Amino acid sequence: MNTILTWYGHATLGLETGGYKLLIDPFFSGNPAASLAASQASPDFILVSHGHDDHVGDAIPIAKRCGATVICNFEIANWLEKQGIQAHAQHIGGGHQHPFGYLKLTQAMHGSALPDGSYGGNPAGFLLTTNTGKKIYMACDTGLFGDMHLIGEEGIDLAVLPIGDNFTMGPADALRAVKLLQPRHVIPVHYNTWGLIAQDPVAWATRVEAETPTKAHVLKPGGAFTIS
Ligand code: NI
Ligand code: MN
Repeated sequence: MNTILTWYGHATLGLETGGYKLLIDPFFSGNPAASLAASQASPDFILVSHGHDDHVGDAIPIAKRCGATVICNFEIANWLEKQGIQAHAQHIGGGHQHPFGYLKLTQAMHGSALPDGSYGGNPAGFLLTTNTGKKIYMACDTGLFGDMHLIGEEGIDLAVLPIGDNFTMGPADALRAVKLLQPRHVIPVHYNTWGLIAQDPVAWATRVEAETPTKAHVLKPGGAFTIS
């Protein structure tokens, strides 16, 4: 069974795996790069990596409408539950077997304040092992860190990395991240949403493929990649 990853622009991802639909960092409203309206999303689960508004985004209205469970760190889970949202709290280094696969929260070097100023705990990335054994690492918003090497030891089929610079890794550090992670495939995200994070993803992909064995795939918002 294939797993399909769709990029909806910025850092918003869809994952279809084993009949389940996941939505990661659902930022549609106010996202100039969004390829979908929040009202068109119909996930079973929503993953939120950290508290910033370009990641919490439309999680609350989508979760309310679809009855989706939000998976996130403990602090964001508490904040969501106070607003009537069903949440599953995890924390960094901790994994859990969900119906769609085994999901572990990984460290991320970033902030996590929630849109209303509430404390959002520590930011996270996600490492998903699908029920067919595929490993997908979504670094989410982070700077480069050396322990990406440890994450890479798990054997990554697909890494999703930010390349936008300014708020996260830029292209040069994201290339170093590929060298640490050694994934089979990589997809760049968190760029070209605004001028401040404008990047040339094709130039980056060319460098990745010239300097590493990893295959780099540049998606357009709405574009998908099948992990087989
Ligand atoms: Ni952020
Ligand atoms: Mn962000």
